[in-house]
Amino acid sequence: MKLLVLGGAGYIGSHFVKEALKNNHEVIVIDNLSTGHIESLPKEVKFYQGDIRDERFLDEVFLQERIDACVHFCAYSLVGESMKDPLKYFDNNVIGAIRLVQAMVKHAVKYIVFSSTAAVYGSHEEMPITENFTTEPTNPYGESKLFMEKIFKWSDEAYGIKYVSLRYFNVAGADSEGTIGEDHSPETHLIPIILQVPLKKRDKLTIFGDDYNTFDGTCIRDYIHVLDLADAHLKALDYLKRENNSNIFNLGSESGYSNKQILSNARKITESPIPSEIGPRRPGDPDKLIASNQKAKKVLNWEVKRDIEDILKSAWNFHKNHPNGYRGDK
Ligand code: UFG
Repeated sequence: MKLLVLGGAGYIGSHFVKEALKNNHEVIVIDNLSTGHIESLPKEVKFYQGDIRDERFLDEVFLQERIDACVHFCAYSLVGESMKDPLKYFDNNVIGAIRLVQAMVKHAVKYIVFSSTAAVYGSHEEMPITENFTTEPTNPYGESKLFMEKIFKWSDEAYGIKYVSLRYFNVAGADSEGTIGEDHSPETHLIPIILQVPLKKRDKLTIFGDDYNTFDGTCIRDYIHVLDLADAHLKALDYLKRENNSNIFNLGSESGYSNKQILSNARKITESPIPSEIGPRRPGDPDKLIASNQKAKKVLNWEVKRDIEDILKSAWNFHKNHPNGYRGDK
């Protein structure tokens, strides 16, 4: 298929681009490079720099390229930042989705796979979380993704655009060749932050709270390898073509690790002591998030191939080779 990958220079987008090329798709990338890195894209990919909220720009790209399907990764995705500046999130994530659907309708592009998040669910006692759980986001980031899901739901009803929404849990890890990986500035995610300690980028890890309702008091999350995630997007495209039907899937591993367990695994893999301290809770963090992935397994024929060790090893491989992120590659 000829794919338009929006946000293809970001962490998850760039891993998808690499896998899509391996699977013989033709790939066109749009990115405004506000958080993405041009260095993460293979040379053979056709790249348009611009913002998807810019109607004229989007129209030009759709006119130039005859797209079969969109894969939409562009979004701001920091929970904490969204609490402080919700309008930034609604502007970029929601308006961006509206502009994109308008362009798809105008240019008769029928299929889209897009990134949603576990943050649409909000807090739940019962685990694992299935797609049928109620959606009550506890932060504007999750709310913006839920809006996006609704935009696509009603656009299916009205214009026949078929979508797959993929609700990611905690994405981590890097490509096996060690050339692309996670490079955010500032970094807020647990695994890359832990790995900054043995790289001497920070003195220690601060674990945000140890009084949660979990077996060791630290939060539990469900980590999913970025390559398993990329594979789910390819399977979602197959599904859209095969079934011509919209759907929503969780992407997680069904296993939860506490922050302390992640730290202890990282100490083993990096063979480094990684000093740590306990700090206050971070606002908005739920105790525990674990996905049920039964639906994606059954309907998309997707499986999780990589475990927490693969995640940490591949992330460590990337960060060791790029201690200053992509900046060091320039
Ligand atoms: N954490 C620390 N210290 C740090 C950084 C993180 O203890 O320096 C803890 C967090 O408090 C949390 C856990 O590590 O308990 C995981 O935090 P991340 O920031 O890595 O990931 P989140 O679970 O907060 O967020 C992820 C995605 C979001 C998505 C969310 C869904 O990054 O986009 O899952 O709940 F919204």
